[in-house]
Amino acid sequence: MSIYILAIESSCDDTAAAVIKDDKIIANGVSIQKIHENFGGVVPEWASRKHQSNIIPIVDYVIKQAGIEIKDLSAIAFTRGPGLMGSLIVGVSFAKALALSLDIPIIEVHHMKAHVMAHFIDEPKPNFPFLCLTVSGGHTQIIKVTDYNEMEVLGNTLDDAAGEAFDKAGKIMGLTYPAGPIIDQLAKTGIPKFQFPEPNIPELNFSFSGLKTAFRYFLRDNVNVDPDFIQKNKADICASLQAQIVKILLNKVQKAVELTGIKEVAIAGGVSANSGLRNELILRANLNSWVVHIPKFEYCTDNAAMIAIAAYYKYKKDDFCDQGTGPDARLEWNA
Ligand code: KG4
Ligand code: ZN
Repeated sequence: MSIYILAIESSCDDTAAAVIKDDKIIANGVSIQKIHENFGGVVPEWASRKHQSNIIPIVDYVIKQAGIEIKDLSAIAFTRGPGLMGSLIVGVSFAKALALSLDIPIIEVHHMKAHVMAHFIDEPKPNFPFLCLTVSGGHTQIIKVTDYNEMEVLGNTLDDAAGEAFDKAGKIMGLTYPAGPIIDQLAKTGIPKFQFPEPNIPELNFSFSGLKTAFRYFLRDNVNVDPDFIQKNKADICASLQAQIVKILLNKVQKAVELTGIKEVAIAGGVSANSGLRNELILRANLNSWVVHIPKFEYCTDNAAMIAIAAYYKYKKDDFCDQGTGPDARLEWNA
């Protein structure tokens, strides 16, 4: 008999739901909250309120899209953390209440592990062990993946995440939030002719605060000379910034490959949608004989399909949680 799992993701500003039938995603939907664009970042209170009004429509949508009835569900999965507390509470409470009413089990999923698990949605799937560079708005990590949902963090950011570096630099330039995709678009027509520093951070850890400061002073100094500097050089500034972020990320991946001897490399998280990162990873893979895994765009940024696939492998191990499980904004890696 087939397993049907409804998955809910509400850790930040997008309300997402998906249905998986065994290991195949049969419905996937996301309600994107546009309201934050006006504020230069996610406003937690607005995010929670919007999740509250979006969650039932998005769940109705995926259940219809899947062509099933709610009573066909075998389990309900939800993102337990990390994320914004108010946002998580909406998804977790919804999932627990629906599961209670249907008398079916619940599965808690770690948001960052789910980003990695997105690689098991489509073929070709990675082989264990593999390395995953997970780059999102809140995290920048190099992860060694040894089995489904079994992962070890080899490197972490010491300050800002890669997505934050894009978003904060974009804000300094006057771009709307999230600036990552806008910088990506502008960079396509620019030349990376401006130089920014590469931090000297030990081991496999990252830091982006020095780059952010250097970027701020670079713009300030040039705008002092020519007030239209940003407007005139927008594409080149974006191309230069993006090239430097990508270089910082991939130099660490290269180091991780050398240290572990693992030559199978994946990328995950919102920043893995970046075309500069995707292209450069393929170039490095060709040069160094790595096998690379690049997710489809819809599985890069926050989505519930990744929660569903992570939950499927937990379901197979009877890895359920109980109704006492609550959201955890700072959920530990091995909780
Ligand atoms: O994984 P995600 O959707 O949410 C979190 O878990 O944080 O990642 C969101 C981040 C934002 O910082 C956004 O600017 C960045 O991913 N992002 C991009 C691109 N698309 C999304 N950054 C660079 N280039 C992109 N194409
Ligand atoms: Zn995410």
